[in-house]
Formats: sequence, C-alpha cells, structure tokens
Amino acid sequence: MRILVTGGAGYIGSVVAEELIADGHGVVVYDNLSKGHRTATPAGADFVRGELTDTENLRRAMRGQGTEAVIHMAAYSLVGESVTEPAKYYRNNVTAGLALLDAMNEEGVRKIVFSSTAAVYGEPEKQPVEERYALAPTNPYGETKLAFERALPWYEHAHGTRYASLRYFNAAGATGQCGEVHDPETHLIPIVLQAAAGRRTHVEIYGDDYPTRDGTCVRDYVHVVDLARAHILALSSLGERSAIYNLGCGGDGYTVREVIDVAREVTGRDIEARVSARRAGDPAVLVASSARIKSELGWSPQFQDLRLIVESAWRWMQSHPAGYEDGAEAQAG
Ligand code: UFG
Repeated sequence: MRILVTGGAGYIGSVVAEELIADGHGVVVYDNLSKGHRTATPAGADFVRGELTDTENLRRAMRGQGTEAVIHMAAYSLVGESVTEPAKYYRNNVTAGLALLDAMNEEGVRKIVFSSTAAVYGEPEKQPVEERYALAPTNPYGETKLAFERALPWYEHAHGTRYASLRYFNAAGATGQCGEVHDPETHLIPIVLQAAAGRRTHVEIYGDDYPTRDGTCVRDYVHVVDLARAHILALSSLGERSAIYNLGCGGDGYTVREVIDVAREVTGRDIEARVSARRAGDPAVLVASSARIKSELGWSPQFQDLRLIVESAWRWMQSHPAGYEDGAEAQAG
C-alpha cells in the first residue's frame, strides 16, 4: 500500500515510516521540518517538505504517488506550551488537520490513522484507562487532539473516510536509526539518560507526595516500535471498520523513581535525583487498558520490560551524541 505519513520526520513518525518500509509498503513522508528532521526519514521513503495547509502541495504529494491511506502524526505536542499558546495548537492540530482531511477527500483517499493521546482523558478517575472513560482534557494539547478525533466520525459519515485514532500513553525507546530528541526536552526518559551521560547535573523528580507506591507519578511506557506496529495493524483493519484504541503496556506502570533506578542499572552510571515541586497538570497515575487493541487487532507489545525500552534509548543516545546530524530536533505525536 502507498501511505502518506505526515510528521514522518519526527520521533514516532520516523519509526512508523521505518516499519512500513520494512513491511514492503510505499511511504511518502510529508513534514514541514519545524520540529522533525530530514535525516530521521528512513532510506526508501520519499520526502516532501510542506505545510498541511498548502493544499496544492499536499494534494500533489498524494496524487503523484497514488496514496491509499494517511497516517497523521504532524502536530504540536507540548502540554505546557499549549497552555500558554493555545492558538498555535488550535491552528496546527485542528485547522491544519481539517485541511488534511479535505485534501484527502478531494483526492479520494479514504483511510486515516491518527496519532491521538492519553491527554484526551485529562485526569481519569479509574485505572487502567479504558476507551469508554470520560473525555475531559485539562489543556489545549489534549483538547485539540480530541477536537480532531471528534471530526473523524463526521467525515466518515459524510465521505466514507475510515479512521483509527490511537491514544498513546508514554512513547519511549528507540530503534538503531531513530530516537527521541526534543528541544527543549521535557520527557522523563531522555532527561534521565542525559543526566547519565553527564549532559545534566541531575534529574528533578516533580513531586514525591502523590498517592502512589513511592509517592512519584506512575506512567505507562510503550516502546516506539510497538506503537509503530499498532499503526500498521490499525491500517490493515480499516477496510472493515473505524475504531479508537488506547496504546500502552498496562500492568502496574512505572513510577518516576523506578524509571530512574532502571536507568541507573542499564547505564551503570550514577544519576542524581532531586525532588522538586509537582509539575502543573500531571495526573498521579496514567496506565492504559489496551485490551481492546489486543483482542480486536491482536496487538502484542514486544518491549513490555522497561529495561528493554531504556536500553534501546541509551544505545541510540550513545550512537547519536549530538542528536541528528544537522542539529535540529525530531518530534512527533
Ligand atoms: N518527570 C519528572 N521529571 C522530569 C520530567 C518528567 O519527574 O524532568 C515526571 C513527570 O512529572 C511525569 C513523568 O515523569 O510524572 C513522565 O513525564 P513525561 O513528561 O515524560 O510524560 P507525560 O506523562 O507528562 O506526558 C505524556 C505524553 C504527552 C501527553 C501526556 C498525557 O508525552 O504527550 O502524557 O498526560 F499529553
């Protein structure tokens, strides 16, 4: 199948493109490189630089290649920034997303897999989180992802466009080629590994007075390759039905302190941790029930052990000490 991957030069998008190519699909990466990185695009993928709102360019990228489906991963994804600059998130995550749906419609492309997020749930009352739980985002990032998700059934109703929305929990880990580099970096695992590599003096633990087993927040880390495999499964199911799936490993999740301990073991380095104040908007626990995607699509994460996830991220960081070659950062999702 020929697939257009928006945001395919970003962290998760580049791994999705890698896996699609490994499976023999044709891939066009469509990315404006505002956050993503040209050299993160795997060999074998075509690359078109462009904005989602540049309808002509986008339609040409689809038309020239005989695109049959879109994986839509281009988005802004910083929770804190979304609170201070909501317009940026509405423009990019909603308005530009609708321009993509319209261009797909014009070109007769009727399948889309969308990168959504656990942030659509806000602070869920119960764990593990099921897809049917209340949708109550607490920031514009989650709100704009939800707004796009909510447009999808209406486009399906009007135009027959099938969709799968994948609500990621905490994406982490790397492949040999593609890894996580953001600027600024806000995610726990790369920050902890930067401290292990001596690029930071210490890690700050944002609060140790949560109602959890050691007082620090619990998250559900899922390897980026397992996420990518879920996209491919979701894509192949789109002929039959549209769907929404959570993506996490479930179980007990890992606390911030447990992540730091695993990173100490994996790297063999001292990592100094200092407790500081809570970060605004952090739910105490966020763990997915992925029962639906497991039973409906047979998804089965291969990297449930956090050690494997951290090892892969550490290997990538060591082989890419300066991030990607031309210095820009990669981001997606
Ligand atoms: N944390 C620290 N210190 C740090 C960085 C993070 O203690 O330096 C903690 C956070 O407080 C949180 C946990 O580590 O408890 C994980 O934080 P991340 O920033 O790595 O990830 P989040 O869980 O905040 O974010 C993820 C996704 C977002 C999504 C959000 C939904 O990356 O896209 O879940 O709540 F919006």
